[in-house]
Amino acid sequence: MKILVVYYSRNGSTRKVAEELKAQLGADIEEITEPKGRGGPLGWIRSGKEASSGAVVPINPWKADPSTYDLVAIGTPIWAWNISSPVRSYLTTIKSKLPRVAFFCAMDAKPGDTFKVMEGLTGKPPVATAGITGPDVKSGNYKEKLKTFAEAIKSAT
Ligand SMILES: Cc1cc2nc3c(=O)[nH]c(=O)nc-3n(C[C@H](O)[C@H](O)[C@H](O)COP(=O)(O)O)c2cc1C
Repeated sequence: MKILVVYYSRNGSTRKVAEELKAQLGADIEEITEPKGRGGPLGWIRSGKEASSGAVVPINPWKADPSTYDLVAIGTPIWAWNISSPVRSYLTTIKSKLPRVAFFCAMDAKPGDTFKVMEGLTGKPPVATAGITGPDVKSGNYKEKLKTFAEAIKSAT
């Protein structure tokens, strides 16, 4: 059973969640990165605009071939109740190479329709989903919450 965790993170929360998921699943991991930074207030505004408009943005080349895995777990921060633009770009490009999928997100409060959007972009229903809030990350509760998600993934593969 081979599992790949793929994620984008602007401020580190999705990265923490992804790293924990990798540890719980014994998975490989890949971070989506961009040629252009999005720090500061202008980066924040641009991120919100891109997410709302469904923009596809340039991302750096990735290493792992998703088609060589049994399942790919994809993680995004929530931006404007939507998927982040770098993860949208990744899914749009990689769609035909994806095996079964699971989705997770880091957010302040609500994921909106993000998991439905991810299902539409991949053309695949997820075997499991998980939404992790800022307080979950700060308190460390996310580790416990991820156990249910990781178990659902394991039993599906
Ligand atoms: C532009 C922007 C828009 C956001 N919109 C939402 C939102 O609609 N709902 C929400 O719960 N959190 C929202 N957030 C908060 C992030 O989803 C949250 O802080 C997340 O943990 C960030 O993940 P990261 O640290 O991996 O970048 C937004 C953050 C940014 C930068």
